[in-house]
Amino acid sequence: MSSFPYLRMRRGRVAPWMRDMLAENRLHPSDFIWPLFVCEGSDCEEPIGSLPGVSRWSVDRLGAKAKEAAALGIPCVALFPNTPNELRTERAEEALNKDNLICRAIKAIKDAVPEIGVLTDVALDPYTAHGHDGLTDQTGYVLNDDTVAILTEQALVQAEAGADIVAPSDMMDGRVAAIRTALEDGGHHNVAIMAYAAKYASAFYGPFREAVGSQGRLKGDKRGYQMDPANIEEALREVELDIAEGADFVMVKPGLPYLDVVARVKDAFGVPTFAYQVSGEYAMIEAAAAAGAGDRDALILETLIAFKRAGATGVLTYHALDAARLITG
Ligand code: PBG
Repeated sequence: MSSFPYLRMRRGRVAPWMRDMLAENRLHPSDFIWPLFVCEGSDCEEPIGSLPGVSRWSVDRLGAKAKEAAALGIPCVALFPNTPNELRTERAEEALNKDNLICRAIKAIKDAVPEIGVLTDVALDPYTAHGHDGLTDQTGYVLNDDTVAILTEQALVQAEAGADIVAPSDMMDGRVAAIRTALEDGGHHNVAIMAYAAKYASAFYGPFREAVGSQGRLKGDKRGYQMDPANIEEALREVELDIAEGADFVMVKPGLPYLDVVARVKDAFGVPTFAYQVSGEYAMIEAAAAAGAGDRDALILETLIAFKRAGATGVLTYHALDAARLITG
C-alpha cells in the first residue's frame, strides 16, 4: 500500500498553495545580516570592481543604508572598514584608535537607526601593512598571543563605540576567552560574541580583500591560521573550543561550499549557527547571472534557502537587501 500508485510524491507539488503548505524551510528578512564596507570621505560611494552592485560608503551615508535595511526587516549589519593606506602599519595601531573609521561608523548607525544591530569584525587585516589578521614576527609568522592581546583591546574599543556583537574573524587560539573576560571586566555584559569558529583558508575571499584594501599587500597566505578546506572534524573541535571559551554564537565561513560543516555544527552543538556567504560566492552568482547562465533572483533565493535547509540560524550575505525585497515583495 505504501508504494506507487498509492503513494505519489508529486501530489505534494501539484499547486503553489500545496508547495507553500509543505515547505520545510522559509526565508525571512530576519535571517540576514548585511555586510557593509565603509570608506573615509563625505557623501562618498565607491563601487567595488569585483563585487558588482556592492560599494563602500562614507560614514555620513551609512545611516541611510542602515535605515533601508531596517525598513526591510533586516536585524543586523556587519561593518568592515577600508582603512586609509597611510594608517596601515606593522603593529596595526589604528585598530585601537577610538576615533577610527569603524568606531565612527558604529556611532553613525546607532545614532541614525538605534533599532538595528551592529556587528563588527575583530581582526587586524584592515589595519596591518602586510594584510595579515595578526602581528607577524621577522619571518612573517603570525604571532598568536601577541595578536590576542591586541584583538582584546580592539573588541573593547568597538564595544565602547556601541557595537552589539563583536565577531573575531582572526582564527587565533584563545581569543574568545580573552575577549569575553575583557568585555565582562569592562561592564559590557550584553555585548555578544559571534565567533568565526570554523573559518577556512579560502579562495573565495578575493573580492572582500579588494573591498577592504588588503589584497595587494598580503604577504603569503593565511593557511597558518585559517583552516584547511579538507577538514571537518577539526571544525567541530574549533567550534567546541569557542563555545567553551564563551562564544554566544558561532559562524562557519565560507558558506555554500561548507554546508556540510554548517549542518554538522548545528547538529552537534545546537547553538545559534551562522554562515557567511562570502564575497567570492556573491561574485560567482553575479557572474553567472551576467553571463546568462541562470536567473539572478532564483539563484539568490536558492542559495539562501540551502543555508536554512542545512540548519543555519542566519546568513551574512551581500544579497541581503535584494533577498529581503524578493521575499517580501
Ligand atoms: C578578515 C575577514 C575576511 C572576510 C571577513 N573577515 C577575509 C580574510 O580572512 O582574508 C571575508 C569575507 C568575504 O569574503 O566576504 N578577517
